[in-house]
Amino acid sequence: MTAGTRGRSVVQGQPATYLEAGRGQPLVLLHGAGGRAEAWTPQLAGLADVARVVAVDLPGHGETGGRGCRSIDEYAAWVLGLLDALGLDRVVLGGHSMGGGIAQTLALGRPDRLRGLVLVGTGARLRVLPRILELFREGSPAGPELVASLAYSPRTPPGSVVEAERALRETATLVTLGDFMACDRFDLMTRLHDVEVPTLVLGGQDDRLTPPKYAAFLAGAIPGARLVEIEAAGHFAQLEQPDAVNGAIRDFLTALP
Ligand code: COA
Repeated sequence: MTAGTRGRSVVQGQPATYLEAGRGQPLVLLHGAGGRAEAWTPQLAGLADVARVVAVDLPGHGETGGRGCRSIDEYAAWVLGLLDALGLDRVVLGGHSMGGGIAQTLALGRPDRLRGLVLVGTGARLRVLPRILELFREGSPAGPELVASLAYSPRTPPGSVVEAERALRETATLVTLGDFMACDRFDLMTRLHDVEVPTLVLGGQDDRLTPPKYAAFLAGAIPGARLVEIEAAGHFAQLEQPDAVNGAIRDFLTALP
């Protein structure tokens, strides 16, 4: 299933692409390590009546191509460049996993550009299992297999996570390795009390890559943040339980000042 139309722009002198659907207040969505815009297919389809949903292909991912970034800060600078290129002054910024790290970074560094923050399957710190890093360094097919084995709820039908599987398979191994290394160095645990942006935290109850403890920490540390635990979802709650995730984001968007 493909939702949204393909948009193209230029960021830092290089081509940048995204999927877009709907009109109105911008909701910009960032995928996770080794991911792509299609990680948000159900949100492009299901939230287009309340927002202009823009799901981004980060550098090195999906159709944006090129090299991936080396750090979460570098990705954040690139996302800011995309907002400028698209003429988006203030947006609701959503991020999944590594994308959530990028979104937290922008919420702290450029709160003037954010109306709201949506964090899905992510954490204030994103240490990565050494075995995952080792397997991606070796370029072993066991790397994506190990990630996939931890990524979903046992209650998730395989058909709902094909986009996540495809992205992990098709993203260049070095790009995904760079993403995991960037995640491994990411740590905002002591800084999140300074976030002043209205925040929604969504976490799958069966998430083993960023466990419920991580979502609870985010919601506890960010002043006023709302936590919604998604039942029967693992790390990819937005694909595994799209109705519950879309419902929570819809409520959040409509309640924003
Ligand atoms: N939110 C809340 N608590 C966190 C946290 C977060 N984002 N990140 C770490 N912590 C907690 C841990 O639960 C642990 O608590 P404990 O001492 O009560 O058990 C403590 O902080 C230290 O954790 P950590 O720094 O992660 O070190 P570790 O040596 O315990 O574990 C890993 C390292 C890699 C095994 C662990 O981080 C993990 O299982 N990560 C998830 C798997 C993964 O690779 N995810 C991919 C993320 S992109």
